[in-house]
Amino acid sequence: MSSRKHLIAGNWKMNETYSEGVVLAQELANALSSQKPEADVVVCPPFVDLKGVQGVVEFDNAPFALGAQNVYWEPSGAFTGEISCDMLKSVGTTYCIIGHSERRDYFHETDADINKKCKALLAAGIIPILCCGEAEDVRDAKQHVEFVVAQIKAALEGVSIKDANELVIAYEPIWAIGTGKTATPEDAEEVCAAIRETLATCLGADIAEGVRVLYGGSAKPGNIAGFLEKENVDGALVGGASLVASDFAEMVNRA
Ligand code: PGA
Repeated sequence: MSSRKHLIAGNWKMNETYSEGVVLAQELANALSSQKPEADVVVCPPFVDLKGVQGVVEFDNAPFALGAQNVYWEPSGAFTGEISCDMLKSVGTTYCIIGHSERRDYFHETDADINKKCKALLAAGIIPILCCGEAEDVRDAKQHVEFVVAQIKAALEGVSIKDANELVIAYEPIWAIGTGKTATPEDAEEVCAAIRETLATCLGADIAEGVRVLYGGSAKPGNIAGFLEKENVDGALVGGASLVASDFAEMVNRA
């Protein structure tokens, strides 16, 4: 078990309309209020739900922070369909997922794009949840560690931070996302430890020691404890199970 404070983040992906999102956030606030979470908790709804979920955080005093699922690096201008860091901040967003494998695969995001997003978020004071992870063929070829290390180095090129809490990493093997196939805790630890070594090279050893590295990919109440026992796994990025308030609250409870 690591000495870092655990972080459980929910990635709603493209689920929940505005009103559904408010209801889910209220259910989660209720489920968590009875248990006073020891872990940090972040909820990442779709853009249009952010303001509604922020209202729940503020008025129901919900014990979770607000995260977005994407951002554009330019500050403003003619970029139809995009959302800036300042827009995210204006509705109370303090975390933002970047580099999710679905964005890399379906929307052709490159390491260079992710690097620009990372720098823009850090400059704006929003904490990036930087995702990385290999496809099944890469793992079969036993190239998964090198692959993930290269993703992290590219995303952090030219990045420096003063405080480890400015950044979160999420290791999500693509073959485990939404498939019900989970990596074993040992698989996760192998890659998360390599990520931490890479962070030491990119950001310095002291910072690397404090950065939280999450596991993601079919994480659920029944398997989260095994991951959290590992020295270099500091929490989870949760997709499907974050859409059921009781399941997500149970995962927070176990953290
Ligand atoms: P999953 O998604 O928990 O549904 O596998 C995780 C993620 O993609 O962040």
